[in-house]
Amino acid sequence: MQIFPNRIVFPAFQTNFATPDGFVTEPLLQMYKKIARGGCGLIIIGCIAVSDCRRSTGVPVMCAGNIRSLELAEKIVSEGRSDLVCIGRSRLADPYFIKKSINGEPVNKCDDCRSCMFFLHGAPSVSCPQNPEL
Ligand SMILES: Cc1cc2nc3c(=O)[nH]c(=O)nc-3n(C[C@H](O)[C@H](O)[C@H](O)COP(=O)(O)O)c2cc1C
Ligand code: SF4
Repeated sequence: MQIFPNRIVFPAFQTNFATPDGFVTEPLLQMYKKIARGGCGLIIIGCIAVSDCRRSTGVPVMCAGNIRSLELAEKIVSEGRSDLVCIGRSRLADPYFIKKSINGEPVNKCDDCRSCMFFLHGAPSVSCPQNPEL
């Protein structure tokens, strides 16, 4: 079974079109529909509630943003809200986040402090207070 129409991904984009609590709006949906129609294999969406996008675009969607536990990731996928999930900063804070979570071991938790977003505050490169090795 072919899941992806092609292997070209549309990445998570900051648009300010979503609602403040992370829901997809009509303008956002229209944008994704055109991108899918234009030939896209997978759309990464920076919102949690992306099930409407899956139905409307006809291509698989991946949600990204503040997914900081495997339980939430599992809930999003099992409720059909998204085909795939993206877990980013939790793995900056702790590269072993997935393995440790599966094994029930404690992890260095991302607390959404945003220091890693060096480009927003003029720092030379990425860093994270939770991860001394970065
Ligand atoms: C330090 C940093 C750099 C990022 N760089 C990119 C990038 O170059 N391109 C991109 O599409 N998204 C980039 N992102 C966004 C992430 O891929 C991801 O969508 C976002 O961090 C939300 O997921 P998270 O809350 O699990 O980190 C970056 C995020 C961070 C924190
Ligand atoms: S710097 Fe802050 S927001 Fe970024 S990964 Fe580390 S704890 Fe999370």
